[in-house]
Amino acid sequence: MTDSVQTTPFLDQKPGTSGLRKKVRVFQQPHYIENFVQSVFDSLDGFAGKTLVVGGDGRYLNREAIQTVLRLAAANGFGRVLVGQGGILSTPAVSHVIRKYGAFGGFVLSASHNPGGPDEDFGIKYNIGNGGPAPESVTDAIYARTRAIDRYRIATAPDIDLDAIGAAEVAGMTVEVIDSVADYAELMESLFDFPAIKALFADGFRLSFDAMNAVTGPYGHRIFEEILGAPAGTVVNGTPLPDFGHHHPDPNLVHAKELYDRLYGPDAPDLGAASDGDGDRNLIIGRNSYVTPSDSLAVLAANAHLAPGYKDGIDGIARSMPTSGAADRVAEALGLPLYETPTGWKFFGNLLDAGLVTICGEESAGTGSSHVREKDGIWAVLLWLNILAVRKTGVAEIMADHWALYGRNYYARHDYEAVASDRADALMAALRASLDTLPGRVTAAGTIATADDFAYLDPTDQSVSNRQGVRILFEDGSRLVFRLSGTGTEGATIRLYIERYEPKTGDLAQAVDDALAPLIAAAQDLADISGHTGMDAPTVIT
Ligand code: G1P
Ligand code: ZN
Repeated sequence: MTDSVQTTPFLDQKPGTSGLRKKVRVFQQPHYIENFVQSVFDSLDGFAGKTLVVGGDGRYLNREAIQTVLRLAAANGFGRVLVGQGGILSTPAVSHVIRKYGAFGGFVLSASHNPGGPDEDFGIKYNIGNGGPAPESVTDAIYARTRAIDRYRIATAPDIDLDAIGAAEVAGMTVEVIDSVADYAELMESLFDFPAIKALFADGFRLSFDAMNAVTGPYGHRIFEEILGAPAGTVVNGTPLPDFGHHHPDPNLVHAKELYDRLYGPDAPDLGAASDGDGDRNLIIGRNSYVTPSDSLAVLAANAHLAPGYKDGIDGIARSMPTSGAADRVAEALGLPLYETPTGWKFFGNLLDAGLVTICGEESAGTGSSHVREKDGIWAVLLWLNILAVRKTGVAEIMADHWALYGRNYYARHDYEAVASDRADALMAALRASLDTLPGRVTAAGTIATADDFAYLDPTDQSVSNRQGVRILFEDGSRLVFRLSGTGTEGATIRLYIERYEPKTGDLAQAVDDALAPLIAAAQDLADISGHTGMDAPTVIT
């Protein structure tokens, strides 16, 4: 039976950088999830009888939200829903399952690297048939609908058993509970030289993979330990927990500090890696050798041909604007196009679909390729393993070789979290107002060449995205970027991205803090960060 339920709009259902993210308690308001999901369906055409994919990272509210989505999907006329066992599917796995089974689209239930639990965050993101996040044209339509919605359609049906693999039914619609890992593991095996990686582990190579009590636990256990033969214990924190064990499942140097300490401690493993809540981010640390995500993107692009899935080379590289220019050097050397997009994976989808690029990445620990339409944490670790297995050398040596060939982009990101929104807005407004006066100005870090507010013209559909972050470019190629986060749920987060390029003939072994100190001072001066925020230091440095 299907009910049409009257409702009134919630005015705060605007999807951000990556779907709708709010506190769990916001999502728990009666009709809140229903309104949003119905608004998604109301913004789409032609899904009658088609397949939908649903999965999440196992955080608090995941299971309940899935049952609600199933009832709405049934009432709205979907023919079939594929759902991960236990409600678990990593974000890249959702993307792959959509593509593999030709689904109409899918829902990712996650707030990514944000903490989980009754007082923490939840999120819903809709992905389209290419497997990637809905583009802005779709998210804008969804938002407009959320502000006008007056009814939703929902089936009256009992919960299905999400833990039992196999077919079930919700009000006449088929639901298939699928193994969360199998399809994804098969895709990885088709891309990488599994025998070479197996041999690496058999030789005693040691990986420490921190799944951060989040979604990649089952993927890591299956792929690294069961399939590739890494010893038990390779995967730590490998069981997805609704509150991630009270941690932030964010693989950065603050929240993955234990892993970092292990890699810089005595008897360190050869490779340390971690992934986030929903499995799309990655952190890579060699023995005594942290790899910035921007550098990791460059190394993966330069060496991708060593993996069977990319043996004929790559078509091009895309990076988000704040990501360092390290990948640009690789693209230049390989004679490949390099695209600079706004922050957020959704901007890569069109480029990948058009075959313009193969590898994409963001400074926020996201790298991925044309194999799916999301960034992919486990994929990045496997590509590193494949490269290490072929080159038979360590991470630190690979980095040193890379910088000796291309030069080094010293890089850091400073986050000022939980700033009052009006203060953060005032900082950005003042910066924007000063843009015209900046070129020619002499700072602690040298002379400013240009300054602008980044705008992007998508080369495939000519759509334009404005106001994507303030860029201050120096005469020596150094760069400061300021933007506000679009994924937070409390106040505002100011992100400051700092980059300095050192040519291969320069000093490639400086401490990052030292290399960037003049730029950090200039940033303080130009934006009066402490004046606006009342904070004298960032809350997170990555
Ligand atoms: C952040 C990252 C961005 C990433 C997004 C989703 O967005 O900066 O690169 O795509 O999370 O994982 P932000 O909070 O900066 O808007
Ligand atoms: Zn994520």
